[in-house]
Amino acid sequence: MRTDTGQVFRLEDYRPSDYLIPQTRLTVRLAPDATTVVAELTIERRPGGDAAPPLVLDGDGLKLKRIELESVAQPAHEATPERLVLNDLPATDRFTLILETELDPDDNKALMGLYRSNGVYCTQCEPEGFRRITYFLDRPDVLSVYHVRIEAPHAAAPLLLSNGNPVASGELGNGWHFAEWHDPHPKPSYLFALVAGDLGRLGDSFTTMSGREVELGIYVEHGKEKLAAYAMDALKRSMTWDEEVFGREYDLDVFNIVAVSDFNMGAMENKGLNIFNDKYVLADETTATDTDFANIEAIIAHEYFHNWTGNRITCRDWFQLCLKEGLTVYRDHEFSADQRSRGVKRIAEVRTLRALQFPEDQGPLAHPVRPRRYREINNFYTATVYEKGSEVVRMLRTILGAAMFRAGMDLYFERHDGQACTIEDFLKVFEDVSGRDLSQFGLWYNQSGTPNLTIKPSYEAGTLTLEIEQSVPPTPSESRKRAMHIPLAFGLIGSDGKELEWTEVEGASVEDGVIHVRKRSHKLRFHGVAERPILSLNRGFSAPITLAVEQKPEDLIFLAGHDSDPFARWQAFNTLLTDSLISAYRCVRGDTRLRFPSQIAQLAGRIAADASLEPAYRALAITLPSETDIARDIGKDIDPDAIFVARRGLSDFIARSNHEPFAELYRELRDDGPFSPDAAGAGRRALRNVVLGYLARIEGGADLAGTQFSAATNMTDLVAALGTLAHDHAGSPQAEAALADFAARHGAMPLAMDKWFQIQATAPGEQALDTVRALMRHPAFSADNPNRVRALLGTFSGGNQTGFHRADGAAYAFFAEMLKDIDQRNPQLSARLATAFRSWRSLEPVRQQKARQALASIAGASDVSVDLRDIVERSLA
Ligand code: PHE
Ligand code: ZN
Repeated sequence: MRTDTGQVFRLEDYRPSDYLIPQTRLTVRLAPDATTVVAELTIERRPGGDAAPPLVLDGDGLKLKRIELESVAQPAHEATPERLVLNDLPATDRFTLILETELDPDDNKALMGLYRSNGVYCTQCEPEGFRRITYFLDRPDVLSVYHVRIEAPHAAAPLLLSNGNPVASGELGNGWHFAEWHDPHPKPSYLFALVAGDLGRLGDSFTTMSGREVELGIYVEHGKEKLAAYAMDALKRSMTWDEEVFGREYDLDVFNIVAVSDFNMGAMENKGLNIFNDKYVLADETTATDTDFANIEAIIAHEYFHNWTGNRITCRDWFQLCLKEGLTVYRDHEFSADQRSRGVKRIAEVRTLRALQFPEDQGPLAHPVRPRRYREINNFYTATVYEKGSEVVRMLRTILGAAMFRAGMDLYFERHDGQACTIEDFLKVFEDVSGRDLSQFGLWYNQSGTPNLTIKPSYEAGTLTLEIEQSVPPTPSESRKRAMHIPLAFGLIGSDGKELEWTEVEGASVEDGVIHVRKRSHKLRFHGVAERPILSLNRGFSAPITLAVEQKPEDLIFLAGHDSDPFARWQAFNTLLTDSLISAYRCVRGDTRLRFPSQIAQLAGRIAADASLEPAYRALAITLPSETDIARDIGKDIDPDAIFVARRGLSDFIARSNHEPFAELYRELRDDGPFSPDAAGAGRRALRNVVLGYLARIEGGADLAGTQFSAATNMTDLVAALGTLAHDHAGSPQAEAALADFAARHGAMPLAMDKWFQIQATAPGEQALDTVRALMRHPAFSADNPNRVRALLGTFSGGNQTGFHRADGAAYAFFAEMLKDIDQRNPQLSARLATAFRSWRSLEPVRQQKARQALASIAGASDVSVDLRDIVERSLA
């Protein structure tokens, strides 16, 4: 494990490497605890560089067994596990260096570099895992053509895969065999991959737009091939979509995906050989929920789209991570929007952004979409880089328009194919095609924090005035902020629900329904507006900001029923819900009686039953803001128990007011047809299960959920029923029976058991801590497997407000102990889990104190990884 060296990496310190490695030949001889890697590197001095600088290669925990320079054995060198330095190099411009290292894949629990998962050898190299395999210039701007030879015992590993195309294979005697792969596309080391093991295969093929045939393979545990069918379908749709929407064609003869069960992240876009967390490959209706299906579709697409945005055009350095991630998330969002319902998809994206990115931007871990410094790059695979990064690309398209955006993307692919680029390169193509100056827009990459717009509307004699003020709250190490370019999509709605026109506007540029806010304050005047309009603002969530607008409840009710923009319509009702939840919270804290406006319940009933709206939309609209959403909107001095009481109060109120119509809707939405994971089927199930959540709160609720549990023919309905039982009727015979039945049915399927862990870890109340402790001893749990750990400890800390934040701080202390333990084996995992503490300063004083103590206990420990220490110290700073 690497502990802290105090080293900080800074964007401004970037300089190109002195050497290049145009060719890399690897020979990997696999054995569980003694794998040998022979790397034959063709090294060149960078043209125009210094005369004879030393060659310094990166390593991480490496053991050098042999070194040969231009056929000379044991040349002068210094080797440590972290570095290989050669000072005396040949006078030639190009030379060959041969290195042999020895690895212990079985001992690798950090899941970075070469490791074994369930008997399958696999690699993870992004961002700095290749240096755990061999010494190298392990940085994304060093591109190399790889030729890989894998040797292994036939019995243990009949399957041998690497990047590119297969070029040779054969027997070696003694039961060993080999395979060779050649990847013609120069790539950075983080895209290297190797897989070897005994796996089942689902095969298919795809004909590209120019008529080339690509062989597709998805490799999974034997017997699970059928569970890869949905992923395969999603892959083919992704390939078609990228051709149609971005003109991008696949560029190798094969495309392989391997599902592994131990993986730190979602999936990895290695060239021609994507490696996936099996959670994002395996699915059928009895094991996966509709959310799982949607995630699989999105992640398969995401990794495939990286082939162009990430692999063909990669990042110059890790500060530019958003260049590939933000853009690729944008692309996968657009793909899902096209495959499903655009409006519903947008609402879901915004909910995710607010749940994951806003708290990051508003807390101690805030950083720009393109950070300027880091201690550990692994800690920057964040919602800011990914989700906000995607929002920035979306804004660019809003500002430029669809056609100009596409022209810019075309130029990007044409100009930068095969290069390692920066955000400046990306913005420049759009400046060049449009002739616009995007320097102010570029602040979105460089300035952290969520901008706020305060808008004061007034109407008089045909003129609508909007006084707009923008501010960006201070964030760590950025106290003064510059004014941003915020594209604010809007509509003016008349009393008949139609859009109102205006004759003239002054005070800011307004184009195609978008106000371009560029200054700290604007006074906008719309002339010739026939009546006092109702304002629909930030339509489609055109900018990732917070809004403070004086808007009457009647206006919000009107928008919730009439806005033609689905996002804004959803937002209007969500704002009403949030406002009444926050006033209820104040009542709970002030010990006064809870009261809710009856209009809210009526409107919820009307939306739920409105057959002109998609069921998926209705489900999202009547879902109450989560306890974390409410906490974020309250902002400070948070008492999670009071939030829980307020939220439950509103939920009960809506349920009681709509008892009959909800019961009828629940019956009506019963699905009797064959199962389909498509958006329409998922939408109906979503609505029915939200309604179940309400009905479960009134008399007979436990029986209703129990009946659904017994009758369920798909995982979505099953977990919805189980969740309702375990959360709303904890300890009831129905709940106990259902939990036992689920474990009996799915005990052998770890991914299904994760749902069982999750449901129990999120049961509200302080007893959840004991439940979680007990479940850690369950045979299906493993502290080494990231999916298990996230299902139990991740959902407990991130999704159980009353349990994790119990007032005595016992859960914080427990969690800190778990982090220290996990950190010994998997620093990436412990560091990520530790971000659950990031909003500790917004808690009420007693909890704040306890949370600080827990963080301090980690900071004070001696054997903490650089990953975990970085998160903890930034959180405490
Ligand atoms: N690059 C991966 C993606 O597609 C994420 C990842 C990062 C996976 C680091 C593993 C390690 O987003
Ligand atoms: Zn990605």
